Amino acid sequence: MEKVLILDFGGQYNQLIARRVRECHVYCEVRPYTMALAEIKAFDPVGIIFTGGPDSVYAKDSYHPAQGIFELGIPILGICYGCQLLAHHLGGEVTAAQDDSAREYGKTATVFDNSTPLFADLPETGVTWMSHGDYMARVPDGFRLVAHSANCPNVAICDEKKGFYGVQFHPEVAHTENGSAMIRNFLYRVCGAKGEWTMESYKERTIAEIRKKIGTGSVLLALSGGVDSSVCAALLAEAVGQQLTCVFVDHGMMRKNEGDEVEAAFSKWNIHLIRVNAKELFLGNLAGVTEPEEKRKIIGEAFIRVFEKEGQRIGHVDYLAQGTIYPDVIESGKGDAAVIKSHHNVGGLPDYVDFKEIVEPLHNLFKDEVRELGRDLGLPSYLVDRQPFPGPGLGIRVIGEITEEKLDMLREADAIFREEVEKAGLSHTMSQYFAALTNMRSVGVMGDGRTYDYAVALRSVTTEDFMTAEWTRIPYELLDKVSTRIVNEVPHVNRVLYDVTGKPPATVEFE
Ligand code: XMP
Repeated sequence: MEKVLILDFGGQYNQLIARRVRECHVYCEVRPYTMALAEIKAFDPVGIIFTGGPDSVYAKDSYHPAQGIFELGIPILGICYGCQLLAHHLGGEVTAAQDDSAREYGKTATVFDNSTPLFADLPETGVTWMSHGDYMARVPDGFRLVAHSANCPNVAICDEKKGFYGVQFHPEVAHTENGSAMIRNFLYRVCGAKGEWTMESYKERTIAEIRKKIGTGSVLLALSGGVDSSVCAALLAEAVGQQLTCVFVDHGMMRKNEGDEVEAAFSKWNIHLIRVNAKELFLGNLAGVTEPEEKRKIIGEAFIRVFEKEGQRIGHVDYLAQGTIYPDVIESGKGDAAVIKSHHNVGGLPDYVDFKEIVEPLHNLFKDEVRELGRDLGLPSYLVDRQPFPGPGLGIRVIGEITEEKLDMLREADAIFREEVEKAGLSHTMSQYFAALTNMRSVGVMGDGRTYDYAVALRSVTTEDFMTAEWTRIPYELLDKVSTRIVNEVPHVNRVLYDVTGKPPATVEFE
């Protein structure tokens, strides 16, 4: 299968590059810049993309790719820092911008030479998104300039014979006009990709791999009823049929009625499902704990212990399967990257797990790819198009210490919010919407009396991939209705707040 390698130099938009490449039906993986030459050869990419990064190429300790990478005969697209790497390593010169005029940030009017394959069949002018403090003072021999802006003569460079292209701007962000088309040009016109990556091909290949790995063994799947684990269940059921047992752990932190709904949805299928009620275990372990990462780790550990116990009860369970997806892996941190939060199904795992191996057949997919795969596998819309719900459940939506009383309040408030959004017919405009219970208490007045009660925060985000998100512009009338109902119907809540923060700087969940 044709593959593209994205070498990660620490830029903030790296996952977006991967998405853009996948959208062109070309499989790609993001790997650390430290990947050794032998590994790169073994990966056998049709093209390589160097991402942006916060460094200066000439700085001490800055990040550089493996020696010999430029001699592999593989086309390279360098983006921002990646472009400067090309210049630096191939005989050009990169320096710090001396004055503000050479430093560029934000939307920049750019002129392109569309005789080069990278810009072929695209308009001669367009806006690009720039974010760089260094610039190329001298372009390497053999390269020509193929784009410029008012401040910068060398916005894009190329050595067409070698298939090396460098752009100072970020084609992967939506602010760059025709950025996706430029990436497509690199893949198709420069690397000669054919676009073989489709969900159908992924499904076939993954099913074959799962069968090979599992053999006659048995698998236990951690099923939460969310999109990812449901799709994972369908994929595994297709691959290994009755060797699969799905375990749905009700940890007592599900949304209102959710446990029964999940059980009902899956009982319609021909799969072996066990529901375990483990509220006491989870809430007992979490008593008095307030720190978000600690909560996540405790929840992750308790999940595994429940699965181990179920595995022992069933006997001879070899593999534990989870619906981990690509953003979970990234955000839980790998190598040098910062840990944002330990998604319980990745970073929250305890060191010791009593299974032969953990199987994560979706770990390379983005959320919308998972949905596409689910549809391909014939899952109904009510499972595939559900809004995501995190494994740790309401445990990370009750801010601070978790108690049953708080969980009950939150369940009611959240159910009201969801009910009103559905009634208003607006659920399709929101990627994820929920209520969280803050640990703030404040003074209010109800009837003639003073109250000193909790504040519920409503959150709704609109996003393509959950890596970045915008807060949803919910109509005031809807907010008003939800707020009125919550303070009237949920005891001990006297204030409702709406979160108007995007991701970044906030995250979708509060913890
Ligand atoms: P954050 O809060 O990281 O959320 O911006 C991004 C998306 O991931 C979901 N999420 C999780 N999903 N296990 C999951 O399966 C987790 O531990 C977890 N934490 C966050 C979150 O609901 C949002 O959709």
